[in-house]
Amino acid sequence: MPPDIRISLEARWTDDTAAFLRDLGRQAIRLHGRFLLALSGGSTPQRLYQTLAQPTGAQQMDWHRTVFLFGDERCVAPDHHDSNYGMARASLFDPLGIDPEQVYRMEGENPDAHFAADDYERSIRTLTGCTAPEIPQLDLVLLGLGDDGHTASLFPGTAALHEPHRLVAVGRSPKGISSRLTLTLGVINRASVVLFLVTGSAKARIVRRVLEPQAAADRALPAALVSPDQGRLVWMLDQAAASELTSHIPLI
Ligand code: 6PG
Repeated sequence: MPPDIRISLEARWTDDTAAFLRDLGRQAIRLHGRFLLALSGGSTPQRLYQTLAQPTGAQQMDWHRTVFLFGDERCVAPDHHDSNYGMARASLFDPLGIDPEQVYRMEGENPDAHFAADDYERSIRTLTGCTAPEIPQLDLVLLGLGDDGHTASLFPGTAALHEPHRLVAVGRSPKGISSRLTLTLGVINRASVVLFLVTGSAKARIVRRVLEPQAAADRALPAALVSPDQGRLVWMLDQAAASELTSHIPLI
């Protein structure tokens, strides 16, 4: 199924994305009583989380029926300025008064990253009641896009990108914090909905390479390998990030 590409005016991107995410959450809660949401890290989603936490929007969603997981985490302590959990806690969990029991944090601080990855996999399997080799189905996985085509902490040419069985692996970043914990493509592609969040003109080139591949290398980019088995693939772009796409896609 081709991706559902949605383009917003830059000033509307956060509100449009927040509304879409809340819709998905309400659907999941209606369907099976809870919303299994894997958050993305990096800088793009922070203003989305802050918008979701605002009182006006917060009333439109039963956040206390949401289980918050993470798509990836840097191997740092939760109070480290690079921690994805730390960013989500400050911008979303604390403002919404989320019970810590609802949050499944990747233990980036564990010196044994492989143990932390296996431990998180056990947590996901316990949460979902899904035993190996079955792959659990999350309701929504949020993803960002790096300018090298990485997503979550699945970087080009790394073992984590090609992990065939695990749900969670140890990623290696060529920049910044090297050691990461990351969901693998297996669990990402099993999700009901995968939502890429990409804004800004700096991402326009890599967005085009992923969505309008011109070469085999483009098709091999980690973000290009995100293709849900049965779920939906949605891209929420602002005009700047979409500015190099050649296909005409009307604004939402
Ligand atoms: C992370 C993210 C990573 C991020 C991209 C885009 O932990 O950094 O999971 O995949 O989404 O690098 O980051 P920005 O949103 O900061 O551009």
